[in-house]
Amino acid sequence: MKLVKLIANLGYGSRKVVTAMFREGRITDMDGEVLYADDKIDHERIRVDDEPLDPPAGLVLMMHKPVNVTCSTKDSARIVYDLLPQRWRLRDPALSTVGRLDRETSGLLLFTDDGALLHRIIAPRAKIVKVYEATLANDLRGDEGAIFASGTLMLESEQTPLAPAALDVLGPRHARIAISEGRYHQIRRMFVAVGNHVNALHRVSVGGLELGDVPDGEWRILTPDDVARIFARVP
Ligand code: URA
Repeated sequence: MKLVKLIANLGYGSRKVVTAMFREGRITDMDGEVLYADDKIDHERIRVDDEPLDPPAGLVLMMHKPVNVTCSTKDSARIVYDLLPQRWRLRDPALSTVGRLDRETSGLLLFTDDGALLHRIIAPRAKIVKVYEATLANDLRGDEGAIFASGTLMLESEQTPLAPAALDVLGPRHARIAISEGRYHQIRRMFVAVGNHVNALHRVSVGGLELGDVPDGEWRILTPDDVARIFARVP
């Protein structure tokens, strides 16, 4: 791919703008040699205004999504893209969230510009286990684990029962729930179905990939090993 197109696709500007950046000598190699639009050079050797070029297509990252931020490309309130470098919103292929978390849900949110990977993760048949921690408005009754595990729980306005889900009680109003589907507001609706209410919800893992110590509101690029962890069997 021509350097102009490569750099424009990374969101640095239109081809016209990037062509002007070449003319101004702002695009160089790592030794400061000015590059030209037709040069052939490894991605990691390219500098724009002395800064390394943004990562190439094939980007996968995880964010510690804060509450009160929306998983959308447009919203009057703060959106998850506001927490990433601004020009990443202009990348082609586009960087998308892998599924969504509610505005009020925090925790592990994946992004990728790799459509095939995105579909491998969210495809129902992939049955990737997502683990959440919920803080509840009312004490657990004691029968929720059996109900969630039954494979017969029907949520309001749904046609098919939920697949079995696992519940670990962490405290009277605190539980960890593992689900392998991604239905609309699933965890919140599961607790409504057992007469409770979720006050706070946080996703801790997707497949074998854990959020770990990524601080609230921050993100990191995933390595191929991290990506493989998403598909690892969870005990
Ligand atoms: N279940 C929910 O209710 N909300 C989320 O954001 C994710 C799972």
